[in-house]
Amino acid sequence: MQEIPLVPEPYKIKMIEPISLLPEAQRKARLKDAGWNTFLLNSRDVYIDLLTDSGTNAMSDAQWAAMMVGDEAYAGSRSFERLEASIRDVYGFQFVVPTHQGRGAEHLLSKSWITPGQYVAGNMYFTTTRAHIELAGGIFEDVIVDEAHDPRDEAPFKGNVDLKKLEAFIQRVGAKNVAYVAVGCPVNMAGGQPVSLENLRKTSELCRRHGVRVVMDGARAVENAAMIRAREKAYLGKPVAVILREMCALVDAIAVSAKKDAYVNIGGFLATHDAELCEKAQNLCVLFEGLHTYGGLAGRDLEALAVGIREMVQDEWIEHRLAQVAYLGARLEAERVPVVKPFGGHAVFVDANAFLPHLGPEELPAQALAAWIYEATGVRAMERGVVSAGRDAKGGNRHPELELVRLTLPRRVYTQTHLDYVAREIGALHRRRASLPGLRFVKEPKHLRFFQARFEPLPIKIAA
Ligand code: F0G
Repeated sequence: MQEIPLVPEPYKIKMIEPISLLPEAQRKARLKDAGWNTFLLNSRDVYIDLLTDSGTNAMSDAQWAAMMVGDEAYAGSRSFERLEASIRDVYGFQFVVPTHQGRGAEHLLSKSWITPGQYVAGNMYFTTTRAHIELAGGIFEDVIVDEAHDPRDEAPFKGNVDLKKLEAFIQRVGAKNVAYVAVGCPVNMAGGQPVSLENLRKTSELCRRHGVRVVMDGARAVENAAMIRAREKAYLGKPVAVILREMCALVDAIAVSAKKDAYVNIGGFLATHDAELCEKAQNLCVLFEGLHTYGGLAGRDLEALAVGIREMVQDEWIEHRLAQVAYLGARLEAERVPVVKPFGGHAVFVDANAFLPHLGPEELPAQALAAWIYEATGVRAMERGVVSAGRDAKGGNRHPELELVRLTLPRRVYTQTHLDYVAREIGALHRRRASLPGLRFVKEPKHLRFFQARFEPLPIKIAA
């Protein structure tokens, strides 16, 4: 077997939270109660929770200490000043509007910059991002490179914008009809695939030539920076802090869910070099989030975030994170579980089409696989396929080429033994895959249906 590199945790544990594995009969019952949707399971019924890395991180002692000095003033709190200073230093943006989480920032941005009927081009959709673009009257156009759609293509930067597609798109609809170009760094739905600095620079230049603005979705920008440092020749070994600043200098604004990179449990922000956008967003902030110096967050949350932002660019943290994801991926590969390559920064994505080849798209392979993983192992994962993609304007199901189950690693939470358990048990499930049935919808909510939909199992197919 190929040797798996070990990077020991750069921390030790000083507080624990007990977890336990329910017996299989109870897991079966809980899954049924949850309508075979892992979002509807109760946390107490989950053993290892790989649903998301969003807000599920362990904070450092320095972050906890900072919470004690949170300034809870309604207006102009010292904690906001500290957050603003962190964002200016680490990301390099002058103007900062805090929000309760990432979608709050997406909302302010979409409402500020989209005139109904305008387009937003981006490197693959993200669920909440596209929902806010559409709520503001915008139309999303995907301009990601083709290899992003192939789980087995090992190109290092499968998150890149396809510059030819983007140029052709702008020519076709006209620059004035493009509200902005949104670059996800990295691309969550493609498997956490990064964008190279060269591609971001060329995207930015192309947009400038046409007078089109560029926005970065920076939920996991530090992971993108770390993958640039590991994979892009001109940046090999450079500090992630330097790479992140270079990325941010190429865009007009950044919308950030701080619940990822910055190790906090809640928070987000919009940051920009553009004073006019800041003013618009601050004004909308008071309607939807709270005053523009707290944006729906407590002073103590602003403090934890201010410290987390400075921690997140320390190389040893991010190095360990990428190593942990690669470790889980390599262990799953050793069990012959089909996974998306190369590994991204936040999760290992299982290719549900390859895992359950006997199921057609209407049998919702990734939704079903996430359910059967919970039933068999107590591990909670998330569907990222046809259910997440939702319906198009005409009401038909969108059919993304990628039908994936995401095993997402919270930061600084699980140990190597937990990951060994996950790989071993999913490996065992894979060996009995032929008997696993698909699912069908029994309840389908209108917005972001994957969160609240309910399903039921289809009859088991007898293999031919
Ligand atoms: N952009 C990206 C790329 C995200 O992954 C997320 C959230 C958001 C924006 C929205 O941020 O949740 O703070 O409002 N992703 C979570 C996930 C939910 O599990 O991938 P939010």
